[in-house]
Amino acid sequence: MPYANENYLKLKAGYLFPEIARRVKTFCEENPDAKVIRLGIGDVTEPLPPAITEAMRRAVEEMGQRETFRGYGPEQGYEFLREAIAEHDFQSRGCDISAEEIFVSDGSKCDTGNILEIFGPGNRIAVTDPVYPVYVDTNVMAGNTGPANESGEFEGLVYLKASAASGFNPPLPEEKVDVIYLCSPNNPTGTALTRTQMEEWVSYARNNGSILLFDAAYEAFIQDPEIPHSIYEIPGAREVAIEFRSFSKLAGFTGVRCAFTVIPSDLEARTQDGRPVKLHALWTRRHTTKFNGVSYITQRGAEAVYSPEGRRQTREIIAFYLENARIIRETLQEAGLTVFGGVNAPYVWVETPGRMPSWEFFDTLLKRAHVVCTPGSGFGAAGEGYIRVSAFNSRENVQEAMRRVRQAL
Ligand code: MLT
Repeated sequence: MPYANENYLKLKAGYLFPEIARRVKTFCEENPDAKVIRLGIGDVTEPLPPAITEAMRRAVEEMGQRETFRGYGPEQGYEFLREAIAEHDFQSRGCDISAEEIFVSDGSKCDTGNILEIFGPGNRIAVTDPVYPVYVDTNVMAGNTGPANESGEFEGLVYLKASAASGFNPPLPEEKVDVIYLCSPNNPTGTALTRTQMEEWVSYARNNGSILLFDAAYEAFIQDPEIPHSIYEIPGAREVAIEFRSFSKLAGFTGVRCAFTVIPSDLEARTQDGRPVKLHALWTRRHTTKFNGVSYITQRGAEAVYSPEGRRQTREIIAFYLENARIIRETLQEAGLTVFGGVNAPYVWVETPGRMPSWEFFDTLLKRAHVVCTPGSGFGAAGEGYIRVSAFNSRENVQEAMRRVRQAL
């Protein structure tokens, strides 16, 4: 019998969102008449905009004709999409990023997990707390940690604890770390790093030889013109940062699957004996060996996001979700709760009444209001005493959910 990867045994039994789904399923079975409104997992509800479906339809037609049919595409992504990304997402913002530095993939969740394959053992790894659980769990699976303690913190990881006192802005590490995960606009707190804060992170990374893994999956929600959309808007970031981007929340692709990772050609790690290694070359090797590219149809759909109609239509959907976020934020504030985020992000981070434990408040809202949220403790020890409310739903459901929550409080 082969040996199993025992690192998996260090993890809590289930990933956060399936655990929530399990509890909701049980509740629905016991209460078949309850009309449950889901503001838990951040999954889009608005359909794909017409500019995108039209581009995908044309691509389907091409695939059905001998002359235009395509088999395997380039693993790194079609040139037409990588050029559009480089131009619209980076060069138009003054970032020195070329199409060759962009790797199209099927999701940022996979990329933020898979990226660990190009880092060696023994790195000091820092995560913010609260944190998107994928960063932590994939490090556990990869054997980069010891066991978890009672509050669920894994030995060997450096937790950068954010709190209400700092507006959930994570502190810089007090020690030297090699790899740091940052997410802005943040999942779960819905707060976004300012330019000054991003400059501090880039400066820390440059001074300490660290690499920032910058997850910008929610950048499309940024409204404040002073907040950078990319880490590469900060001078010097090319040498210290990898950026993850996704079409999921930007264009409703959670079920379509398309994202991309940027690895600048300058970015280096080192061998155990101190020789520099270009991470772009390692990720190219990994990507071409383990991935066969995103479908042509999907990439044509993603390209359409950058057309004038695609931009207008996706902006309208983002504005729609942000209006939901405003309704959630203001309703909960009026109800006397302390809230964060929800201005440049689709998530509202809410302190539970009397700092009630997160799962207890989750159960209260489910039972009394038939509303699903995400318990903050699922995002780390510093998330205890908070819940995350997602703005991804119809206007009608958000208004109804807020009416019920007010009544339940
Ligand atoms: C979330 O709810 O945190 C997101 O849906 C997670 C994800 O994008 O994978």
